[in-house]
Amino acid sequence: MRTEYCGLISRRHLGTDVDLCGWVHRRRDHGGVIFIDLRDREGIVQIVCDPDRPESFASAERLRNEYVVQLRGRVRARPEGTVNPHLVSGEIEVLAERLEILNTAVTPPFQLDDEQLSETVRLEHRVVDLRRPFMQRNLRLRYRVAMSARQFLDRHGFIDIETPMLTRSTPEGARDYLVPSRVHPGMFYALPQSPQLFKQMLMVAGFDRYYQIVKCFRDEDLRADRQPEFTQIDVETSFLSQAEIMALMEALVREVFHAAAGESLPDPFPRLSYREAMALYGSDKPDLRVPLKLTELTDIMRDVDFKVFRDAARLADGRVAALCVPQGGELTRKEIDDLTEFVKIYGAKGLAYIKVNAVEKGIEGLQSPILKFLAADVIQTVLARTEACDGDLIFFGADRAKVVNEAMGALRAKVGHERGLAEQGWRPLWVVDFPMFEWNDGEKRWDAMHHPFTAPAEGHEDLLEAEPGKAMAKAHDMVLNGWEIGGGSVRIHRQEVQQKVFRALGIDAAEAQSKFGFLLDALKYGAPPHGGIAFGLDRIVALLAGAESIRDIIAFPKTQRATCLLTQAPNQVDERQLRELHIRLRAAPAPEQ
Ligand code: AMO
Ligand code: AMP
Repeated sequence: MRTEYCGLISRRHLGTDVDLCGWVHRRRDHGGVIFIDLRDREGIVQIVCDPDRPESFASAERLRNEYVVQLRGRVRARPEGTVNPHLVSGEIEVLAERLEILNTAVTPPFQLDDEQLSETVRLEHRVVDLRRPFMQRNLRLRYRVAMSARQFLDRHGFIDIETPMLTRSTPEGARDYLVPSRVHPGMFYALPQSPQLFKQMLMVAGFDRYYQIVKCFRDEDLRADRQPEFTQIDVETSFLSQAEIMALMEALVREVFHAAAGESLPDPFPRLSYREAMALYGSDKPDLRVPLKLTELTDIMRDVDFKVFRDAARLADGRVAALCVPQGGELTRKEIDDLTEFVKIYGAKGLAYIKVNAVEKGIEGLQSPILKFLAADVIQTVLARTEACDGDLIFFGADRAKVVNEAMGALRAKVGHERGLAEQGWRPLWVVDFPMFEWNDGEKRWDAMHHPFTAPAEGHEDLLEAEPGKAMAKAHDMVLNGWEIGGGSVRIHRQEVQQKVFRALGIDAAEAQSKFGFLLDALKYGAPPHGGIAFGLDRIVALLAGAESIRDIIAFPKTQRATCLLTQAPNQVDERQLRELHIRLRAAPAPEQ
């Protein structure tokens, strides 16, 4: 049917006959001559239908957008002045000899080149949406990323081993998607939140280097960078130190960026401890393109008159921090109010600020409602530490450290980008030296900061139960431009250490045996030291594609409310199906709005 892709025809085909298939992207009737932009996955070529060839011309007259056609024609140069430098096929056109309509199409729900479409419309008509060159590009980029990761891993001796989708819950910190068992009344499988335990057991089984590009399922609150089902490039190795694992995985990401998109990443990636990341950026996934840093002020605020700062500074887990915005003095009252509302999303109660008009004038040169509550030496220290210059604006956050970090971290990224302070390009980094646990104040217990199979840092085994808050982990996250693109660690390979971690998490021996007995048993049979990482494939592709949401690089994604607008999943099932699964609904399902 076809000798060439439309989008690949160029000068080198001049004078030859080609057979083409594709979709009518646009038809223009120039009174007499009909021009068709014919589209296939490689791009667009201009077809000319001339009334002198009545047969093809008659078909051309019937064409509408998105009709599927096959044609034969001769490639010729476009007349002077009609060359399109943006297309591979921009210098040529094809004079149709014969044109056949293979299929008609109803009027599409939108023009393919409409850039103002709502996401709902796009997702409802995903098939048409996927025809758009932008989506075609994104999914092919995704393929190249996955393919180049496979090539790298294959070359380094990793083998792809599949792990089950119908399994038991793995604690990665989200809710499970459950699948009821028909054969075992009242029993459920969980879809994997990650293949974590299986890949560890493959190491115990001696496979040494495993990888898988694999779907994971997490029932969590969705955001632009989160989907309920998403894809990991999941990797595990035996007998490598943490430094070796990190070096190899960094090389993987560098190669993928280069092979899939021609992008260069620095070598090596800088490293930041979790503590430094929080202190300087208020985030464990800082966007290093933004040069702004937070300034620590907790130590100088313990005795000030301003109650908000004093109270926060005196809290055991309190923090007072500043963000100095260069030339932020230009911000209007309204803009500052909007930023105050913005930090409230993260739990901040306010956003105090000082305008720096003239540093050399001391307090006289400053402007702020809180000046009267701060002693002169405190103000001088604030100016010195923030290195504020004339025209700058200093924002303050005071609260529990968690709130200050989230609010000021988000403010830093927002203000940095909005005020054009961010650099271009790629700023990857590793975040290391994470704590093993974080305190869950709601439940009054320690939670694993990564997952409960992460090894403690050298010499920290005894802290696990004695001082869980001080135990550090051999964990490593890879961060790129403010997105966490990968997370991993060295794992616990000794059974008694695993037991200690379970105890620290409040999981007693009986519960540990019933939930993770298979892992504890595996660890008894000679488990090698092992570790690895999992990358978020969707996030890597979204960054490379310049997409704002990972929905734009997934063929059939879910909405923010975890629904598929194309297939209307999730949906109700027959009473009979429920009965077979031994399920009775607690209440009739509410009608969908
Ligand atoms: P973690 O939970 O950090 O680690 O997940 C690894 C990476 O997967 C991506 N990711 C997501 N992407 C899209 N939507 C989601 N809902 C989502 N959740 C996570 C992120 C993240 O860095 N088993 C461990 C890995 C290991 O220890 O080897 C794990 O799953 O980019
Ligand atoms: P108030 O005394 O409540 O009027 O607050 C004075 C200034 O401090 C205002 O600019 C508030 O936005 C700000 N503010 C209040 N609470 C906090 C807080 N926890 N952290 C930082 N600034 C705050």
